[in-house]
Amino acid sequence: MSRLIVVSNRVSAPVDPAAGSAGGLAMALSAALRKYDGLWFGWSGETTEQFTGELKYEDRAGVTVALVDLEAQDVEEYYNGYANKTLWPLFHHRVDLTAYERSYGEGYERVNRRFAEVLAPLIQPDDIIWIHDYHLIPMARDLRRLGVKNRIGFFLHTPWPVRQLLVTLPHHRRLVESLFAYDLIGFQTQEWLDLFRDYVISEARGELAGYGGLEAFDRRVRVGVFPIGIDVQGFIDARNSPQGARTYDRMAASSAFRSMMVGVDRLDYSKGLEERMLGYEQFLHDNAEMRGDVFLVQVTPISRDDVDTYQDIRARLDALAGRINGEYADMDWQPIRYLNRSYRRDQLAGIYRAARVCLVTPLRDGMNLVAKEFVAAQNPEDPGVLILSRFAGAAEQMCEALLVNPFSREELSDAIKKALTMPLAERVRKWQALMQVVRDTDVSIWRDTYVDALKGVEIIGDGDAPFHGHADAA
Ligand code: UDP
Ligand code: G6P
Repeated sequence: MSRLIVVSNRVSAPVDPAAGSAGGLAMALSAALRKYDGLWFGWSGETTEQFTGELKYEDRAGVTVALVDLEAQDVEEYYNGYANKTLWPLFHHRVDLTAYERSYGEGYERVNRRFAEVLAPLIQPDDIIWIHDYHLIPMARDLRRLGVKNRIGFFLHTPWPVRQLLVTLPHHRRLVESLFAYDLIGFQTQEWLDLFRDYVISEARGELAGYGGLEAFDRRVRVGVFPIGIDVQGFIDARNSPQGARTYDRMAASSAFRSMMVGVDRLDYSKGLEERMLGYEQFLHDNAEMRGDVFLVQVTPISRDDVDTYQDIRARLDALAGRINGEYADMDWQPIRYLNRSYRRDQLAGIYRAARVCLVTPLRDGMNLVAKEFVAAQNPEDPGVLILSRFAGAAEQMCEALLVNPFSREELSDAIKKALTMPLAERVRKWQALMQVVRDTDVSIWRDTYVDALKGVEIIGDGDAPFHGHADAA
């Protein structure tokens, strides 16, 4: 059987599967890889004086990981720089926050080349290689230059940006051209795939090649939509575990007959946290009779805090949470519990279950796994309500949520009121529909559909026939 080699910048397979890890990619991949024979390769998160490419192997809950250290300059230019100051804001439509430094682009190219040079000698002829996310777009091109002929797939966890914004990136064509070294490119939603296709056709003069194929730069790739999901049974088990049950009891007791709302997001400007707090403030302002009956637990682990834009949003959120608490709190009630720390998966499951409402309000998000986790954690007899931004990839599937425009604080305020007062029968009906979506997009389905599609390309060779899965038929 062929091995699956997964590559991503962040490799955070937890030693204990019940432990969490802030970030959807890591959560999804550790769940996906547990059932596969293979290897997970990426950055160790550590720095070294001089890059040697020496690999550190570890076994984490049955997943073999191979990690490599980077130089401080690499981390600055590739990870903090091009990945998190250039591509992340651009792909999330924040050109106002996007840094266009030449040195970042050079660092990005250098690290991708280094990763390819370290990985290439480990690859066996039958291996399938699956590379993840915006940090590693050019890596397949670099592997091809080293003679790697294996099937190589790419999956983008973030949105793809509109063409009119992507062209603000110097060398945008080179970046997109490097994607054509893959055999299969996967997106979270039809919307991101359509935007990619629009760039290829309008900017790179590419053509549709039938059965989900695209031709440009003298190459043909397959493209498809593969919505990522959660390990549903694993999450239900976490919810039912002693730690999950204990956390639920603790939260239920600390709610003291009040309705708890929850938000769980890395501290990132794409998550719409300021807009969420402003919407909640509007709700408190508009609904004086409901004040004191509701509170928001906002779990927000610090993320990418070497990057100035993340320091700025952190300071703004500190001030905003303080202002709302200062203005509305009473001697026995605080409207927002703002927690800058991360929780284990089993603890989160208990928190979600104790919540009446979950607020998932990103301004733009590739998918958003928190939305799916909240649904999976609910009591089927008395489920909570999901308020979901229409700009999260998850909204393409989870249309039974209360869909909102997070830029409008009035709309958010109305949605909070509606969620808190929704009758049981409607909550149950919505939850059942949402839970079906969560089950239908289980992470094992995502993994198997993608890997089968990539293998399908291999069997067919020149890509003239359809592959299984959600391949784009246009
Ligand atoms: N997460 C966690 N502990 C925390 C906060 C978040 O384990 O304290 C996990 C959360 O359960 C989810 C992931 O981090 O699985 C966040 O994924 P999502 O797709 O919502 O957003 P991302 O961080 O990838 O942008
Ligand atoms: C998002 C990205 C991932 C990233 C994660 C956490 O999910 O798509 O690639 O790993 O955020 O961010 P970090 O910078 O800590 O890896």
